[in-house]
Amino acid sequence: MITVKDLTKRFGSLKAVNQVSFEVNEGEIFGLVGPDGAGKTTLMRIICSLLNPEEGEVRIFGLTARERDKSKESETSNFGYMPQRFSLYGDLTVMENLLFFGSMYKLRKEVIIQRSDEILELTSLMEFKNRFADKLSGGMKQKLALTCALVTRPNLLILDEPTYGVDPEFRKEFWKILYNLNKGGMTIVVSTPYMDEAELCTRVAFMNEGRFTALDTPVGLRKNFPYQVWELVSDSREPELFGEVDGVYDSSLYGDKYRLIIDAKTDAKTVIEKKLKEKGLTSLRMQKTSPSMEDVFVMLVGGEG
Ligand SMILES: Nc1ncnc2c1ncn2[C@@H]1O[C@H](COP(=O)(O)OP(=O)(O)OP(=O)(O)O)[C@@H](O)[C@H]1O
Ligand SMILES: [Mg+2]
Repeated sequence: MITVKDLTKRFGSLKAVNQVSFEVNEGEIFGLVGPDGAGKTTLMRIICSLLNPEEGEVRIFGLTARERDKSKESETSNFGYMPQRFSLYGDLTVMENLLFFGSMYKLRKEVIIQRSDEILELTSLMEFKNRFADKLSGGMKQKLALTCALVTRPNLLILDEPTYGVDPEFRKEFWKILYNLNKGGMTIVVSTPYMDEAELCTRVAFMNEGRFTALDTPVGLRKNFPYQVWELVSDSREPELFGEVDGVYDSSLYGDKYRLIIDAKTDAKTVIEKKLKEKGLTSLRMQKTSPSMEDVFVMLVGGEG
């Protein structure tokens, strides 16, 4: 559905997107994750042809942006985009915002009104139809932004961190909507800072400094994680306890539990026990565990991996 080939975008000397190639298949929920400044927004804006790359090309439905403009099929091959910093009109109601965004896509008013029932139902905003956008909660504003992106009835939806900063309950609800849209045949590309959301994608691309550093299914990413992960509960609460230990690439303390990412060849048990003994500590519980998406993220972004 989307083919990206050798894409490079420069801002001065900075390569915000650096030789990126990948495909998104029809029916996928394709996740894009990476730290601040990785190039996610830039990549999405190029896909939506809001930015021109210096090198490479993007095809959607087999067509470049120029070919799409000429094509008569644009009615069936359109896409929706929800930008990272979406601005709604606070002094317009939910319905008026929808009318406004629909009209920007040159949709006739009757068509927008016809469609609004369906999409307001989908995003469960129907009962807030006449509320001013300013009076909506943060989560609901994001839902309205999604609603506006749906007004063209896209079969491809591109969402840039749509759940950033909203509460977990709402994030769940938002993803339920995405799953429903996807079940109805919509292909989705979504960036997210949340690893639990990355887990919900068909495939996930990790982006760092303009490049893709990994691309696989969530299961594949965890299965091919080339390190061992250990959990340890001890009587220590010292965050840096394992900071300098050979073979330990990352250590974090959550409450009373350390999570350690350790070199695959290291005898982890011995290394951990040695450190504890040195400090006169004891282990209350120590076990090897399976890697999480968070572990994968930590190593791809900051680790030696
Ligand atoms: N219009 C621009 N002019 C100059 N530099 C830019 C421009 N847009 C983005 N950049 C730079 O390009 C890099 C990639 O930015 P981008 O916004 O694509 O990252 P991101 O992964 O979306 O980050 P975030 O998670 O913060 O949204 C950053 O270093 C950013 O400062
Ligand atoms: Mg961004």
